[in-house]
Amino acid sequence: MPAASTNNPELYESPFLKAARSEPVPHTPVWFMRQAGRSLPEYLKIREGVTMLDSCTRPELVVEITMQPVRRYGVDAAIFFSDIVLPLKAVGVDLDIVPGVGPVVARPVSTLADVAAIPDLTPDHVPFITEAVQGLVGELGNTPLIGFAGAPFTVASYLVEGGPSKEHARTKALMFGAPDVWDALMRKISGIAAAYLEVQVEAGASAVQLFDSWAGAVTREDYRTHVQPHSARVLERIGETGVPRIHFGVGTGEILDLMGEAGADVVGVDWRVPLSAGVERVGGRAVQGNLDPTLVFAPTEVMLDRARAVLEAGAAAPGHIFNLGHGVIPSTDPDQLARLTHFVQEESRR
Ligand code: CP3
Repeated sequence: MPAASTNNPELYESPFLKAARSEPVPHTPVWFMRQAGRSLPEYLKIREGVTMLDSCTRPELVVEITMQPVRRYGVDAAIFFSDIVLPLKAVGVDLDIVPGVGPVVARPVSTLADVAAIPDLTPDHVPFITEAVQGLVGELGNTPLIGFAGAPFTVASYLVEGGPSKEHARTKALMFGAPDVWDALMRKISGIAAAYLEVQVEAGASAVQLFDSWAGAVTREDYRTHVQPHSARVLERIGETGVPRIHFGVGTGEILDLMGEAGADVVGVDWRVPLSAGVERVGGRAVQGNLDPTLVFAPTEVMLDRARAVLEAGAAAPGHIFNLGHGVIPSTDPDQLARLTHFVQEESRR
């Protein structure tokens, strides 16, 4: 059950959740991918001496870090502070998040036995997630909390490569050359992702985002055959809870329609795709995006002119959630994001 939003009419009617359901809104809602984190001095301070993965398992830290950008910017939604590899860590996969590098997996996956050795996730693996979400829902009041998980392809890439990768060559070699292992791995990860999202929704998250950050690495045909069915299984399970589902990836201009067909209510559009084209491609679904994240480094007027163009293009969709076209770049000046948030909310007021 979408516990938080059904028990709270004002939350249910918030601009973010209305846009996600393709209903008319008083203003275009705005939040930023990776809004909680490295660009905020208050984040760097609270994280001093605590590793990334440890911070994700401490509910009081998760609540505080998730709240920081909400307080600072007045954004229309909070994104749960965690990481896409956290559920793997929780079931016992030996991995770490190395500062400046990203997730690193001790023993990369290549065989059916490797896949079979990864346990399925149950709520008992992540009591700290339930506690953090419940704490947040209390603090957030009428501001929605977005839960999230990594999509099967993107998480598989870290498991197969053993760390971050540009070409995803080993991952795709497994997909091409060992379809049985690939299928087993993608089923395993999709089960973990769905169970992890269910825990967050059960505890009170009122929307979810499935991050398939690296899905742009595959062709349309390979996406359709080897990736989409697995993401679709996750999205279908979450659909049963009734909360809106956002689905986002980078460099996904050629597969946006297929990402929508995987079962999303809202398709995140990366900054490379003109938003007007994105709206066309996802035909009939709401969109999220898509200001180029580097525009925060331009003069404010230039950034706001481009934001206005994004708002105009988004108005053609049945629902539009304003966002950057990928995550906040760590060196971003928080004051620029504050100006951008205020501008989007005022400029789009109806
Ligand atoms: O504000 C938010 O969006 C909430 C938190 C969040 C984090 N990771 C925290 C984090 C979210 C939504 C993610 C998702 C995530 N993690 C994705 C999908 C989103 C995207 O950017 O495409 C991916 C691909 C990852 C994997 C990952 N984890 C990367 C690429 C990195 C960065 C490595 C680096 O330091 O350059 C991480 C680590 C990570 N996740 C950090 C944070 C705040 C930085 C670690 C730190 O602060 O010590």
